[in-house]
Amino acid sequence: MTPGAPGPPARRERERPLIERAAEQRGSRRRAPAIHVEHVSKTYELGPIRVRALRDVSLKIARGDFVAIMGSSGSGKSTLMNILGCLDLPSAGRYVIDGTDVRDMDEDDLSDLRNRKIGFVFQSFNLVARTSAVANVELPLAYAGVDRRARRQRAERALASVGMAKRLDHQPSELSGGQQQRVAVARALVTNPTLILADEPTGNLDSHSTEDVLRIFAELNEQRRTVVLITHEPDVAEQAKRVIHLSDGRITEDARRVGVHEPPPAVQRQKSAHGVASEAGR
Ligand SMILES: Nc1ncnc2c1ncn2[C@@H]1O[C@H](COP(=O)(O)OP(=O)(O)OP(=O)(O)O)[C@@H](O)[C@H]1O
Ligand SMILES: [Mg+2]
Repeated sequence: MTPGAPGPPARRERERPLIERAAEQRGSRRRAPAIHVEHVSKTYELGPIRVRALRDVSLKIARGDFVAIMGSSGSGKSTLMNILGCLDLPSAGRYVIDGTDVRDMDEDDLSDLRNRKIGFVFQSFNLVARTSAVANVELPLAYAGVDRRARRQRAERALASVGMAKRLDHQPSELSGGQQQRVAVARALVTNPTLILADEPTGNLDSHSTEDVLRIFAELNEQRRTVVLITHEPDVAEQAKRVIHLSDGRITEDARRVGVHEPPPAVQRQKSAHGVASEAGR
């Protein structure tokens, strides 16, 4: 830092009047894509070994898009996801989320952002053991300081929306894999986030549960939430509007299948099947 500079940028930013910051942010948010990654690289240093997990990745994701990220094991998918979710910082390059550069945020801002705007879903569910489904879903609300009654109501509603209304008091060990993942999805959406990040969410699920979880993601996307989903499976990627391939830390392919503002493929199919059914019913 330059000698005499008035503190790190995050501090200076925090000292500016709140109204001024909020007005600027509203303006830039309206224009900015949800996600803007510019020339991002990530290098892990393990003693003398350097692993270049991401190499000069640039990527824009519009609000309301549904993106699948594919690539072989070790290609950098989870590394990219961790950066998109502000769980890790790039070694080089810029990451701007909703118009704000993550480098301008301090740890409080980042955890606030992760808590309020982003819902995470992982392959291994990451539920708290020996704790009921409803208490698991309440957790992010407890961190956000929501009072007990509202917490319970919202958690119950989120569980109902993933078809788990009858399993509120079951602990993770008393649920099937597909049910555990639906609880994890309820936990991800209970804070009403604008961005859902899912790393191999169907990796441990059978085909029936995979369909259930993908249908829920499609519905969330239909409600204008941005969804970014990592997967190895081509039929899972087919549910997205756009498919990005990573290879050796680089984007090698970026294909749009469905427009950002169109319904996701699963919802389109549902609608046309419904259309066919009602035609037939006449
Ligand atoms: N914390 C870490 N420290 C050191 N190296 C790491 C770390 N995390 C990941 N790597 C390395 O970075 C590269 C990319 O890893 P990443 O986890 O992003 O791959 P991935 O595409 O998610 O793979 P998979 O499909 O197996 O989950 C790999 O070579 C991995 O060994
Ligand atoms: Mg991974």
